[in-house]
Amino acid sequence: MSATLQIQIEKMIYGGDGLARHEGQVVMAPYVLPGETVTVALEPSRKGLLRGRVQGVDTPAAERQTAACPLFARCGGCHYQQAPYQLQLAWKRDILREVLRRVGKIEAPDDIPTLSGEPWRYRNRIQLHAAGGRLGFLEPGSRALCPARACPIASPRLNQALADLSEMARAPRWPPFLRSLELFTNETAVQLNVLDTGRPLARHFFDWCAERLPGASEPLEYPTRDFCFRVGGRSFFQVNRFLLDALVDAALADAQGRHALDLYAGVGLFSLPLARRFPRVTAVESTRSAAQDLAFNAARAGLPVDVRQASVETFLAELPQAPDFVLADPPRAGLGKRAVRRLVELKTPLLVIVACDPATLARDLALLAAGGYRIDSLTLVDLFPQTYHLETIARLRWTGA
Ligand SMILES: C[S@@+](CC[C@H](N)C(=O)[O-])C[C@H]1O[C@@H](n2cnc3c(N)ncnc32)[C@H](O)[C@@H]1O
Repeated sequence: MSATLQIQIEKMIYGGDGLARHEGQVVMAPYVLPGETVTVALEPSRKGLLRGRVQGVDTPAAERQTAACPLFARCGGCHYQQAPYQLQLAWKRDILREVLRRVGKIEAPDDIPTLSGEPWRYRNRIQLHAAGGRLGFLEPGSRALCPARACPIASPRLNQALADLSEMARAPRWPPFLRSLELFTNETAVQLNVLDTGRPLARHFFDWCAERLPGASEPLEYPTRDFCFRVGGRSFFQVNRFLLDALVDAALADAQGRHALDLYAGVGLFSLPLARRFPRVTAVESTRSAAQDLAFNAARAGLPVDVRQASVETFLAELPQAPDFVLADPPRAGLGKRAVRRLVELKTPLLVIVACDPATLARDLALLAAGGYRIDSLTLVDLFPQTYHLETIARLRWTGA
């Protein structure tokens, strides 16, 4: 039997947990609120950190609320349903400040404006897992299946598809070796991407899906306020269907000049609006399918985007002249030293980073600040309500070393 402890939660930290101290040691626990006293059963310690599973909330915080989803805490997808939405946003601003200070020694501006939208039914993409004739999500920190027939953060069309696929998974025709798949939707059509199978799936499985999931489509056409994006099965697209326009508008505010770079461009979510403002836009994307979608999307919109299928690092190393504006939207790993070093040499007047990991953002910002960029503003964009994930737009100006 594992040891139990009673702890009082001080604050929330990045990753979804609350943090407490017990006899000088940090103890972390999920699904809690600051100020609460909870009893936890300690889990086997990883990297010397103590983490507990909550057995009981002894003194609940006044703000504690009942989770909307009956699978909350059993499914690994959400972390914050115990808290009202405005409190989740306040936690994220505090966590962003704390990570920037701890990792990058950076003091965030006093005001962190926040963009948020509908906190439920927002996801246009979900990953599903299958086992034993059942479909669902994964348990927290585990590969074990949490069977689910509905998800309150997924869009209505995805919930419909999840219900249809759950029926199909119970049928003898369902391939037992199909372990995970992904659904992506524009609320009309659904794109089904098989992620993990033990062996190739027969054609009749896809015919069956097309029959049972009306509107099955590959690639998917995704409309935004100003454009339509073709998104192939292997191409990235933002998952929050309510905040696409707000994200683009906030990232591109004050972008002007002759030449803009869109680094880590995906299918062109930022490149196309940039091409309406700048006479010259160069978009850099390493994945072949996304770069092809981007070229198609720009041509269809009649916008001249110079698409380079290349790694950002290689592209920047060969770029002879500084552009007027750079938008960089890297994956979780962030920009990294090579790209940052080159951006420092280029002295771009305005650099906007759209970041999904505050720790790698903090590391990149510290290097950029040391190289002569000043942080003008930070905006929190809550693309992932009910979860600990947070998106930040950092606007930096070159002020000289
Ligand atoms: C977070 S997504 C952003 C995509 C796009 N800006 C959007 O908002 O839809 C990051 C993109 O960068 C691409 N990528 C990852 N590493 C890269 C690299 N080193 N060089 C160029 N592209 C990269 C990925 O394929 C992905 O499309």
